[in-house]
Amino acid sequence: MSPSRGRFITLEGGEGAGKTTQIARLRDWLEARGVRSIATREPGGSPGAEAIRKLLVEGAADRWDGTTEALLHYAARRDHLRATVRPALAAGTWVVCDRFADSTLAYQGFGHGLDRDSIARLHLVAIGDFRPDLTVMLDLPVAAGLARAAARRGAETRYESLAADFHERVRAGFLAIAAAEPERCAVVDATRDADAVAADIAQIVARRLGLT
Ligand code: TMP
Repeated sequence: MSPSRGRFITLEGGEGAGKTTQIARLRDWLEARGVRSIATREPGGSPGAEAIRKLLVEGAADRWDGTTEALLHYAARRDHLRATVRPALAAGTWVVCDRFADSTLAYQGFGHGLDRDSIARLHLVAIGDFRPDLTVMLDLPVAAGLARAAARRGAETRYESLAADFHERVRAGFLAIAAAEPERCAVVDATRDADAVAADIAQIVARRLGLT
């Protein structure tokens, strides 16, 4: 008998929202319920997409315009899905992903002003109608997030070096996406300590994806 398909959960949010910590916590919680999972990330998550990631996260802020960035993110996303995500889901493994298509809409769309229709067309060309089963948006004020991110970052400073008003548009973008698709998305207040955030996420996953 073939295993049932795994679920695809994405965590989204601005810089320094705590996604990495929460992904590890969520995987522990899934494992305790007998659910096999992998963690992955975008841009990246496959050898090809990790090579594209370096082009995106290093160098000067004006290295690419919004359209080129969106093309690179979707090129990486297509490879990531083909090489990592789809095979895992097909094998019954759940996939917990740090960022996905909502980041393109928030950063390249709301942040850089690329129009929504172009991004939707790009999505269709690159990955068809593929969507997460559940998206958790970790929300916190821009200044708090940038301060957390600055404390830990090495060479990957390209996006953080963009102006604060860019990050404000990104934050508003994630909240607008969540409001437009409430059945797929849930917003979690990420200003609280990691335990409180993890408990919220576990409750959302339990309720929406039918785990106890
Ligand atoms: P990370 O810091 O969460 O690893 O993500 C790297 C940067 O890439 C982050 O600043 C957000 C940005 N990004 C986009 O601009 N568009 C996208 O589609 C994705 C996935 C990430």
